[in-house]
Amino acid sequence: MAAVCANCHGEGGTSTKPSIPNLAGQNPAYLLEQMRQFADGRRRNEFMEGMIRAMDSDEKIGMVLFYAAQQVAHQPTANPALAAKGQEYFEKTCFRCHGTSGRGNAQIARIAGQQPDYLRLTLHRYRDGTGVRANSIMTPNTKLMSDADIEAVVAYVSSMP
Ligand code: HEC
Ligand code: HEC
Repeated sequence: MAAVCANCHGEGGTSTKPSIPNLAGQNPAYLLEQMRQFADGRRRNEFMEGMIRAMDSDEKIGMVLFYAAQQVAHQPTANPALAAKGQEYFEKTCFRCHGTSGRGNAQIARIAGQQPDYLRLTLHRYRDGTGVRANSIMTPNTKLMSDADIEAVVAYVSSMP
C-alpha cells in the first residue's frame, strides 16, 4: 500500500511533486482526520476520495503512523528577502495555531517544510472559499491575505525545517 502512496507522495512521504503534499512528519491525528474528510466528501479530491474509501481502518492507521515517523527533507528558500516578509506575517497570525516552529499539533496541520505549490494552492482555496475543504477554520484566517502575503508566507513556511 505504501508503494502506491509513494507514486505521488514520495518515498518516505517527502513528495517530489510540488503540488502534492508531503506526508512525512505530519501529525498522525491530523492525517487520519483528513482521510476521514476525503472519505465522507467534506474534502474533495476525486482520486484521494476513491483511494481512501478502499482502505480499511487498520491500513489507514498503519499508514499514518508510518508517515508521522518519517523525516521531511525540506528545501531552503530561493528568495530569502521574500521569506523574511513571510516570517513577519507568520509570526503575527499563523504561529497562534501552527506553533512558532510550524509543526502544529494533533488537530492542526504541520506546515513546516510543506511543498510550496501545494501551500499556495491550499491557501488560495481556503481564502476564496472554493468548497474543496469545507468549513475549515482556515477560511476566516486567510480572508485578509493578499496574493503577495500568500507568496511571502509560502516562501517562509516551505523553508522551515
Ligand atoms: C495519484 C496521486 C496520489 C496517490 C497515489 C496518493 N495520493 Fe494522497 N494526495 C494526492 C493529492 C494531489 C493530494 C492533495 C489534494 C488537495 O489538493 O487537497 C493528496 C492528499 C493526501 C492527504 C492529505 C494531506 C494533507 O496535508 O492534508 C493524505 C493524508 C493523503 N493524501 C494520503 C495518501 C495515502 C495514505 C495514499 C496511499 C494509500 C495516497 N495519499 C496516495 C495525491 C495522491
Ligand atoms: C485559529 C487557528 C489557525 C490559524 C490562526 C491558522 N491556521 Fe492554518 N490550519 C488550522 C487548522 C485547524 C488546520 C486544519 C484545517 C483543515 O482540516 O482544513 C489548518 C490547516 C492549514 C493548512 C493546510 C495544511 C495541509 O497539510 O493541507 C495550511 C497550508 C495552513 N493551515 C496555513 C496557515 C497559515 C499560512 C496561517 C497564517 C496566515 C494559518 N494557517 C493560520 C488552524 C489555524
